[in-house]
Amino acid sequence: MYIKKLTLNNFRNYESEELTFSNGINILFGANAQGKTNAGEAIFFLCTGYSPRANNDKLVIRNGEDRAEISAVASSSYGDVSVKIRFNKNDKKNIYINNVEVLKVGEIFGNINSVFFNPQELKLVQETPEDRRRFLNVSLSQMSKSYFYSLIRYNKILSQRNNLLKDPNRDVVYDTLPVWDRQLTEQAGKIIRARNEFLEKLSPIAREKHAFISDGKEELVMKTESGYYGTEEEIAYAMYEDLKLALDKDIRLGFTSIGPHRDDIKFTLNGLDARVFASQGQQRTVALSLKLAEAEIFKERFSEYPILILDDVLSELDKKRQRKLVSAVSGMQTIFTTTVIDRTVFKNLLVNKITIENGKVKK
Ligand SMILES: Nc1ncnc2c1ncn2[C@@H]1O[C@H](COP(=O)(O)OP(=O)(O)OP(=O)(O)O)[C@@H](O)[C@H]1O
Ligand SMILES: [Mg+2]
Repeated sequence: MYIKKLTLNNFRNYESEELTFSNGINILFGANAQGKTNAGEAIFFLCTGYSPRANNDKLVIRNGEDRAEISAVASSSYGDVSVKIRFNKNDKKNIYINNVEVLKVGEIFGNINSVFFNPQELKLVQETPEDRRRFLNVSLSQMSKSYFYSLIRYNKILSQRNNLLKDPNRDVVYDTLPVWDRQLTEQAGKIIRARNEFLEKLSPIAREKHAFISDGKEELVMKTESGYYGTEEEIAYAMYEDLKLALDKDIRLGFTSIGPHRDDIKFTLNGLDARVFASQGQQRTVALSLKLAEAEIFKERFSEYPILILDDVLSELDKKRQRKLVSAVSGMQTIFTTTVIDRTVFKNLLVNKITIENGKVKK
């Protein structure tokens, strides 16, 4: 799958601009603060309905304007697909797939698929379990809308359960909880099962990618720590039993102490905890390998590669790792953003270079 055209209207520092991409390597090139990341963000927005950088949608509207509109046309094995988002300053956003408005945000998933990577994704290794769960959630939601809806349902039931745990009337708590727990664990079974399956596939591919980029010097191993395995029903049953055992503790804590909202992934490099021992460059390579592996899983699931958006990644890797990365992305539409292009890295490759200057494509 590849994106052919991206149109930006009053989106961040863009007034009205159209970007045309090739099916192979594209480089958004320019000095700092010109709008390279903004363009990558727009593409990711059109794939997932949310920004990889801002929590508030309305921030993307160009200062002083009331609306922004972004759209993309992508080519997939099913033909062309177009996705458009209109951001309104005083209203929620509108989403259109092939010019028909969809009313649920989740419907945006699976139309254009992308994998986004930027320096903040170092967080994947370094930061909190929440960042790693987000990685799983975004990726799995793109692959299956039903995962996304299970997650929404799970979070809703979870917050109701947490409220109930704080109810001073214990009889009410004991009477009502089993009903909530049935529903909660039913969704948890689906979520954990999907994550387990995903990580089982992802892990060996990420290890391969990492070995390739690091020239075989480093062995990456990743593990989940959910502790639940088996079918959806088996997971649901096991977690239901665990919830019963944890009830007194949960009441004391005032929140639910077990479940997929507490999951984590652990990375080790040559046997050492990557979070603690890996260098910045190594951590970046771990995160990058994970994203490249994610792209392979998309390929397996949809029979075509997603669009790979690599924001500011090159500058963070040494020449050798840069060259390795560029050869690892062949066959995929890749959109790099960078302030410097090293010709030796892209030697003999066809590159579509788009120079961005102050929110405009330089002709
Ligand atoms: N809502 C907005 N309205 C107008 N301008 C905005 C808005 N949001 C962001 N900008 C501007 O966009 C510019 C940053 O663009 P972007 O992050 O894409 O830069 P970049 O080209 O990726 O730079 P770098 O190389 O530093 O990463 C900033 O100058 C910022 O002020
Ligand atoms: Mg940038």
